[in-house]
Amino acid sequence: MLVLLAGIFVVHIATVVMLFVCTIANVWVVAGDVSAGLWGNCTQGDCSGRLWYGDDDAFKTVQAFMILSIIFSVISLVVFVFQLFTMEKGNRFFLSGATMLVCWLCILVGASIYTNRYANLSVVSGLESHHGYSFILAWICFCFSFIIGILYLVLRKK
Ligand SMILES: *[C@@H]1O[C@H](CO)[C@@H](O)[C@H](O)[C@H]1NC(C)=O
Repeated sequence: MLVLLAGIFVVHIATVVMLFVCTIANVWVVAGDVSAGLWGNCTQGDCSGRLWYGDDDAFKTVQAFMILSIIFSVISLVVFVFQLFTMEKGNRFFLSGATMLVCWLCILVGASIYTNRYANLSVVSGLESHHGYSFILAWICFCFSFIIGILYLVLRKK
């Protein structure tokens, strides 16, 4: 039981870190030495380039929901630690689970809009592009946050 809780705690921290990395790193799509993410268009490490779709409402929604997902995953972690010390034995980690599922929904919205509208655009016209690690991390976080959220709802404090 304790091992399980410790395991979830570690996976939760890893998910928070991955969410930070995938949101901040401008590596959602890569072509040669150019990459683009949520905030800029990078050429050889210089990410000051503008994204031509940067002013789209849909793209701003992706940015907003990825930031919200970070906020909710951190809140859920804090609530979990709080409940670990204050909650009565036998209760479920309902509040942290619910908050983590809100985080999961935010990733769902952000990553799906991105995948649907922007993932298949090439960074540089003419060059073949592929998904960057941020894009992959975002979908890994999507899976992890769901599993963590459900486990929090199911587990009782011993
Ligand atoms: C990134 O910059 C390059 C070169 O300025 C441009 O061709 C490309 O369209 C830009 N990509 C995006 C996604 O804005």
